[in-house]
Amino acid sequence: MKEKFYITTPIYYVNARPHVGHAYTTIACDAVARRKRMLGFDTYFLTGTDEHGQKIERAAQAAGKTPQQLTDEVSAEFRALWDRMGLTYDDYIRTTSERHKRGVQELFRKIRDNGFIYKGTYTGQYCVFDEMYVDVVGEGAPCPECGRPTETIHEENYFFKLSAFADQLIKLYTETDFIRPESRRNEVLAFVRSGMRDLSISRSTFSWGIPVPDDPKHVVYVWLDALANYITALGYGSEHTKLYDKYWPADLHMIGKEIVRFHCVYWPAFLMAAGLPLPKHIVAHGWLLFEENKMSKSRGNIVRTETILDVLGADALRYFLLREVVFGQDGSFSFDALVQRYNSDLANGLGNLASRTLTMITRYFRGEVPYPSAKASHTAADDAIAETARRVIAEYNSLSDQYQFSRALETAWSLVAAVDKYIVENEPWALGEKQDEDSRARLATILYTSAEALRIVTALAHPVIPEATTKIWAQLGLGDIKQFDLSKLAWGQLKLGTKLGEVQAVFPRADKSAIERMQKMEEQQKPVAGATEAQPATEKPTTRATFAAEPIAKSVPAANDGKISIDDFAKVELRVALVKVAERVPKADKLLRLEVDLGTETRQILAGIAESYTPESLVGRKVVIVANLAPRKLRGLESNGMIVAASPEGGKAVLAGFLEDVPVGTRLK
Ligand code: ME8
Ligand code: MG
Repeated sequence: MKEKFYITTPIYYVNARPHVGHAYTTIACDAVARRKRMLGFDTYFLTGTDEHGQKIERAAQAAGKTPQQLTDEVSAEFRALWDRMGLTYDDYIRTTSERHKRGVQELFRKIRDNGFIYKGTYTGQYCVFDEMYVDVVGEGAPCPECGRPTETIHEENYFFKLSAFADQLIKLYTETDFIRPESRRNEVLAFVRSGMRDLSISRSTFSWGIPVPDDPKHVVYVWLDALANYITALGYGSEHTKLYDKYWPADLHMIGKEIVRFHCVYWPAFLMAAGLPLPKHIVAHGWLLFEENKMSKSRGNIVRTETILDVLGADALRYFLLREVVFGQDGSFSFDALVQRYNSDLANGLGNLASRTLTMITRYFRGEVPYPSAKASHTAADDAIAETARRVIAEYNSLSDQYQFSRALETAWSLVAAVDKYIVENEPWALGEKQDEDSRARLATILYTSAEALRIVTALAHPVIPEATTKIWAQLGLGDIKQFDLSKLAWGQLKLGTKLGEVQAVFPRADKSAIERMQKMEEQQKPVAGATEAQPATEKPTTRATFAAEPIAKSVPAANDGKISIDDFAKVELRVALVKVAERVPKADKLLRLEVDLGTETRQILAGIAESYTPESLVGRKVVIVANLAPRKLRGLESNGMIVAASPEGGKAVLAGFLEDVPVGTRLK
């Protein structure tokens, strides 16, 4: 039987719309879940939204909505975003659902029946923002966590005997690796050792919550309500406990560091009181900072995930967050760093390795993986790549098991760099010009070695950048990457004669304008002053912007024959033109009709780039055209000139770019 793996994200509050901070945790969990599936685990991945409590009730009031309206809207927005990103959660729990309410009431009853709940009077300070009782004195005294003024609460409450669990909790922290990383464990240990008071677990001064069983004047404290999601989603408290029996206890609750106390102290104590098994691990990551502060709605320094998806795509964001932020520590988000990482590691790194390797196999071996044949063709450099690959597989696995995403990716990309260097030093393109047996054998070895290393990086990186690696895997002729058993990954599995798929660039290079576009999209989203926390959803731009890209075959020199003289070249008039109009040509899948401004005149040009660029993405862009080409007719329309684009064999056209600062009409020489 398959081993199971149950992983959860926090459930997000619906008083704020999703931002990159929420995406960070959810992406990290998605990458873990995908990897576990590839390793053969029976994986269950849960996410959802936290919809009760005073904070949500007030946000709804401020927005002029009922709490249910607000929660329905925002919860759907989180879910739609995760779906758009292709996140592979198995269930999405909402705390306003009936199944959850029933489960929470059952848990409350169980704890009460076991004698850990009593009635008392609470007088003290409450922080609505953190939904937490705090140990300060006096109306308005600042919350020690967030600094906001607290509110005095004087009410009759149900109390949970938290103090009864101190010893058991200390044992849990010191005898197991319940909390990771170490720094977080020490914090929690200090908190518990300093002496804990019992916890008020009901409220009676507002009603947006789950009624306490047998005493509906009270609602259950929102953190007891929220934490229970991890079991109610599996059917705890209902007649259908198949999932609960199979997957509980959780293998991993992944959270941000600000909610460690709730997950590492209250949650295990509630479970102990109910007599239920404890989750195996809580992993707390650091904060994503933006403009030097924690990215958060209340600070107003958020970046919307949609902006990055529109411009660079989901893989770029996933790779950036997991590579750039050292897991466990705080890390900064910036558009500059995002684009830089994207270009260096994805476009120029993995993307370039894939396109140059696959293009050469296509060109020199008719698209079939060649195999190192003669002994003579073998060198120490080939062995060194195989050795590096073996070491990388082992290190990547062990770092991933410790959730050290950035170090794992760093390791995998050291193989990309090693193969790049190997290709440059061994000059396969020079061998490709020769036909003698030794040269062919040597070329086969070099390209086999490169393709095998590419296959290994692709398999390792799949959980982090699923879209691009799915494509590279198919281009390698290996079919569906999801079917691959990652636990068996080893050097030398790529088979002789494997027929490559259609070779296409996976990561077009991003230029400066990508940064500007993202910044502009965020500017337009900035809420007007005085807007309440919960704003109605705004229409989002959906055009997927494109960006200038390097020709994919750049590292493969052109064939020797058919050379032209400099004088011949001088006859070709290349000019920079601005696209004013772009539209599809009816019944022609590949053609776009463009009107371009040359500074002195406007021209109509028909270009076969409709599969690579949407019309909307071209308007306002500068392109290079051949200005002195004789007019010709296509589909009954006259074309006056030609757009310069790289069209790799079988691949999509890529426009010559980086021209945004060049005046229209400029001649290229
Ligand atoms: O705390 N950096 O919900 P929440 C990193 N409902 N992670 C961030 C982040 C940032 N800047 N901003 C948000 C709650 N997160 C409760 C949880 S669980 C039973 C109840 C992520 O909407 C991170 O995972 O405030 C953090 O812990 C979580 O979102 C908080 O989301
Ligand atoms: Mg929060």
